[in-house]
Amino acid sequence: MWMMMLLGCARSAHLERLPDAQAPVPVVADDTSEAYQRGAALYRQGSCVGCHSPPFADATHLGGGRDLPTLFGVFYAPNISPHPTAGIGSWTEADFVRAMRVGRAPDGRRYWPTFPYMTYTRMTDADLHALWVYLREQPAVPTPSKEHEVRAPYGFPGLLGLWRTLAFRKGELEPDPARDATWHRGRYLVRAVSYCDQCHTPRNGLGLVRRRHDMAGGANPGKADVHPNLTPHPEAGIGAWTQDDIGTYLATGRKPDGTRTEMPDIMAEKIHDSFSWFSETDRGAIAVYLASLPPSDFDPEQWGMVRRARRRAVRRAEP
Ligand code: HEC
Ligand code: HEC
Repeated sequence: MWMMMLLGCARSAHLERLPDAQAPVPVVADDTSEAYQRGAALYRQGSCVGCHSPPFADATHLGGGRDLPTLFGVFYAPNISPHPTAGIGSWTEADFVRAMRVGRAPDGRRYWPTFPYMTYTRMTDADLHALWVYLREQPAVPTPSKEHEVRAPYGFPGLLGLWRTLAFRKGELEPDPARDATWHRGRYLVRAVSYCDQCHTPRNGLGLVRRRHDMAGGANPGKADVHPNLTPHPEAGIGAWTQDDIGTYLATGRKPDGTRTEMPDIMAEKIHDSFSWFSETDRGAIAVYLASLPPSDFDPEQWGMVRRARRRAVRRAEP
């Protein structure tokens, strides 16, 4: 059974990636503007890189192409280079801000939530501007975006709108006067930039995040892999980890018990392409924020959907 699960995970975990593959992102020159450098850092930290500049053999920077298998179908990250027809070269900055904050295209089309605008809606105006400055100055890529393969009945007009009404809250995070700047920075990185909360919180069969178990470990419908509990509960969560342990893990994938998160685990990929690009101060802020969460004894391995997905995997393994 374990073998089947491993094979199942490996299949869904993007086989094109080689363990030592590097994302095709150009090195940032020192003589670029402050906004450009900030945008370049956000492009890494916000995980845009993994979808729009994936580390695949034939991928290009901003050309997209990452395949994203979900319950609703297979989605492909589009070309977001400044190419006038293949990319978003004809967009204004306002079009870009609307895409990121409201999840709608210039023609009004609603985006599928595999584009994590649920998270990016919380980014500050200054950070969205910095991303825009960065994107505009990259080379145009002529490769057209791939069509999504939406599964019936999810493409039915109106269903996505209904889902969004249930799942999507637009706008920035409210400041908490009882907390300091480090905590606010940590929260911003966890919930507005890196979507840690979207993976490390369980979802129900409709793909809606269960806020009752916020950050207490996640699972996605249709998938058997489990994202651990990140609350400071001493046994169920990471309450026994020090701040340095969390910082080291985000930089290297090494855990305090000496084990390592390895490719093709999605977290290993995020660490390699995105989280190891945080400054040490930012990794510290994330650790401070995680330590402030209410401890929860929730065990994502016991989430109904995970148990059902595993039973299905076992049944498939039986002759
Ligand atoms: C998990 C994969 C993923 C990540 C991470 C991601 N995107 Fe995307 N993005 C997508 C997908 C898929 C779409 C297409 C959604 C649709 O067509 O409904 C998309 C669409 C877009 C669009 C609209 C393009 C168009 O032609 O309409 C923009 C702009 C964009 N992303 C920018 C970004 C930026 C900037 C980041 C990082 C801050 C980012 N994306 C992170 C997958 C991703
Ligand atoms: C795309 C999904 C995804 C995202 C986004 C994500 N994680 Fe993870 N994370 C995982 C998975 C899967 C594991 C399990 C890896 C393993 O067990 O080796 C994991 C493991 C961890 C662990 C180890 C916990 C333990 O008990 O072993 C920590 C700490 C962690 N993630 C923190 C974060 C933080 C902080 C962020 C945001 C900056 C984040 N993760 C974003 C999927 C994700």
